[in-house]
Amino acid sequence: MNIAIVYSSMSGNTEEVASLVETTHRHRGDQVSRFEADRIGPREASALASFDLVYFGSYTWADGVLPDEMKDTFRLILKELNVPIRQAAVFGTGDKMFVHFCRAVDEMAYHLSRYGVPLAGELLKIEQSPRNQPFNVRHWAERMAHHVEEGVHHYVDSKNQTIVAQTS
Ligand SMILES: Cc1cc2nc3c(=O)[nH]c(=O)nc-3n(C[C@H](O)[C@H](O)[C@H](O)COP(=O)(O)O)c2cc1C
Repeated sequence: MNIAIVYSSMSGNTEEVASLVETTHRHRGDQVSRFEADRIGPREASALASFDLVYFGSYTWADGVLPDEMKDTFRLILKELNVPIRQAAVFGTGDKMFVHFCRAVDEMAYHLSRYGVPLAGELLKIEQSPRNQPFNVRHWAERMAHHVEEGVHHYVDSKNQTIVAQTS
């Protein structure tokens, strides 16, 4: 399987999750390409159409906000280029002391669903660093891979953020 990971990380927590996702897929024998969100230009964005599964990962900023570099990436991929991403999976890190815990994850999933990009499964929200619970990330990434292999598609319901499974 051919995997892309697009992520944004300020202080390293989300990057750690990206690394765990990467090693999980490499252990499965998958090919993995990693992209920092602020390095995604039109060429990289268009190339995302060739992957079996594209992960999007971000921290949450300023009281529940998706960081600018990720917003720009989503605008480019979904709105400007309408890149036909086959399937996506969304993760993020945040801090439960904020009211809108990991809201960036919900926002990314919402945009993807709105533009018709199927999600491989449930959203992953990690409190700060995944260091003390790497198995959670590994099991999640394995589940995403199985869902892609089995053709399971999910979409976010914008009203209550639940994930609605649909047959592919
Ligand atoms: C100014 C500021 C605002 C933040 N706002 C939120 C927030 O609204 N919700 C949340 O879950 N986390 C919030 N966080 C916490 C970060 O998202 C969290 O520390 C995250 O793990 C950082 O990821 P990174 O290490 O990949 O940059 C905020 C952090 C800072 C410094």
